[in-house]
Amino acid sequence: MEMSTVPAVHDATLPDKWIEANSSVFRENFDRMSFEVSHHLALHPLFQLPQLMELAERTLKTRPSDLYYDMGNVAPGQKWKDTGRVFSPLKALRQLEDSSAWFIFRSTQRDPAYTELYRHAIAEIKDMVGGGIESKISREDIIIFVTSPKRVTAYHIDRECNFILQIHGKKDLHVFDREDRQVLPEEELERYWSVDHNAPNYRPELQNRARSYKLVPGNGVHVPVNCPHWLQNDDNISVTLSVNFQFIDSMRADVYRANHYLRRLGINPSPPGRSSLRDRAKVMAFSIANALTPLRTDPLSTEPLSQARRSEGRK
Ligand SMILES: [Fe+2]
Repeated sequence: MEMSTVPAVHDATLPDKWIEANSSVFRENFDRMSFEVSHHLALHPLFQLPQLMELAERTLKTRPSDLYYDMGNVAPGQKWKDTGRVFSPLKALRQLEDSSAWFIFRSTQRDPAYTELYRHAIAEIKDMVGGGIESKISREDIIIFVTSPKRVTAYHIDRECNFILQIHGKKDLHVFDREDRQVLPEEELERYWSVDHNAPNYRPELQNRARSYKLVPGNGVHVPVNCPHWLQNDDNISVTLSVNFQFIDSMRADVYRANHYLRRLGINPSPPGRSSLRDRAKVMAFSIANALTPLRTDPLSTEPLSQARRSEGRK
């Protein structure tokens, strides 16, 4: 598809309410199970390829670390760290049809042209969640994914809860149950929250346990925190908007981190959430250990935890 063939549509054609979901499904499943939503953002002018090209140019100039890109074929079980970088992102974006490229426009709300769009989308979702959600959120943002035909987004988990809204092209999204310990063992969760964001392993033999969705322009899927997922484009360029919330999760993170170290000492720790007393004790012990040895919290590792924490950050 040539960029010039993408029609520019004025957002006056959009209805006031952009995102629609069955209210009882939303209430029952928000941040528990994946579910489908619909939306009217596919025609929004800011998601057309010429505008995304301009966004890429501005982002590279002013916030280069907010534009992630790589290039090349990826398998679902591959790790993020093993994907290839592109040398000319603007060229790869211009030749998206053939470049096997994958772009993430992080924190797009920081671009003034997209700030209002962000406010509107976030406000609608918070409104649907209701019930004091504001006080549970530590961070929120919007991310735009732009990918070449057939590109795979490798299997991973996120610390954010996402609303993945398909804007352009079709793709398959496979979401697994985060409570299924054969799919996502406790050890992998502990490693994810403590030392390695690439810890979750894709198990092709368990693929049939995924809920699979066909994303098309106008629909979307809610993916709760830590639900494993992977995606593959159809034979088309894809543009996807992700609206994200990160909850205040320091307690959960510290319990997983404490459990990671306990397991390495030969103890089989209980998962977070079973006993709030035990969880609080672990968090306290962990913060004391962290304060006493700020550069070497993990007695079995040469990598300081502070370094592991610095390397945290969404891809
Ligand atoms: Fe994700």
